[in-house]
Amino acid sequence: MKNGRIQKGVSRGKPFEIEVDGEKILAYEGETIAASLLAAGKRTCRQTKLTKEPRGIYCGMGVCMGCAMIVNGRPNTLVCQTMATPNCKVQTQIGIGNWETPK
Ligand code: FES
Repeated sequence: MKNGRIQKGVSRGKPFEIEVDGEKILAYEGETIAASLLAAGKRTCRQTKLTKEPRGIYCGMGVCMGCAMIVNGRPNTLVCQTMATPNCKVQTQIGIGNWETPK
């Protein structure tokens, strides 16, 4: 499991796992899903509907919609604004608004 976090001089909450497209990744209490994804080296949150181009975390403040994902079955969830919780399920989304899940 990749861990791209700063290791020295940082205190974190309790560690736990979240599931991203069927893969377990490490998260910590007080961390957004976006932070967990970046630390795990995952850059793609959704794909554009027509050309399937990747989109990911860009603004980090809930404005650009690049980080929209399906979280616990709820589409269009902005993971930069959503806290990671133990055992939450996160899925890549295709499109936005009227979404699809990858096949
Ligand atoms: S990164 Fe822009 S809305 Fe989440």
